[in-house]
Amino acid sequence: MMQSSFDQETSRRLHVAIVMDGNGRWAEARGLPRLAGHRRGVRAARRIVEAAPGLGIGTLTLFAFSSDNWKRPRPEVDGLMALLGSFLRREAAALATHDVRLSLIGRRDRLPLPLRAAATRAENETAGARGLHLRLAVDYSARDMILRAARRRVSGSVPSETFAARLGQAYGGAGAPDVDLLIRAGGEQRLSDFLLWESAYAELRFVARMWPDFAPADLAAALDDFHARDRRFGALPLAVSTPSTRSR
Ligand code: FPP
Repeated sequence: MMQSSFDQETSRRLHVAIVMDGNGRWAEARGLPRLAGHRRGVRAARRIVEAAPGLGIGTLTLFAFSSDNWKRPRPEVDGLMALLGSFLRREAAALATHDVRLSLIGRRDRLPLPLRAAATRAENETAGARGLHLRLAVDYSARDMILRAARRRVSGSVPSETFAARLGQAYGGAGAPDVDLLIRAGGEQRLSDFLLWESAYAELRFVARMWPDFAPADLAAALDDFHARDRRFGALPLAVSTPSTRSR
């Protein structure tokens, strides 16, 4: 399939994905309600969105609400839904002004109607932006998305490459390239069902800092570390794979 010039341009820039963990512990450590931590988490996210384009990031995917987060107490879930809705309503115009295109990824059918409406409006309002693709993962489970895509696509026999390409399309991801760097704040070291398909060769970085304290300097440090890594995608390093330099 032909790539548009926007797709080509986007794929030259990095896709960074972030698990914004630690809001609750940040708040509890200060004797505040957990929702106060989430509110500070939104502020941290805003700072990171502003810094991202200047750091060579073309796609930024933020894990805002996992499908397993429905298991949390009702007031926290309601508070998070309200926070996400007000973020989308308040920030859509500013995102468009800053050339940020917003997409929601994940299931929409279980979201409160006002949040769904705010998401669609923000997506429409920012559809023409090209500076950064901001993807908010809400009611998101990578495993569920893969299963649903497979269920839609398993029909007849097609060559495995075609199947993989179709599955990738059905899986969606709002036209995003694979993840280059996946960062998790808050000190835990796990993926929690986030972007399992497109993180096949992502570099991972786990940061002890709680998300509300995560700053653009932390993102810049993560990118410095990323650029120093040797990404081989399963192949050998160039010097080793060249026959003339291979030892016998
Ligand atoms: C994890 O903290 C964070 C979440 C459940 C997501 C909430 C994220 C935000 C409110 C930021 C939203 C950003 C935007 C752009 C709208 P936790 O509650 O799991 O923390 P804990 O592990 O310390 O309990």
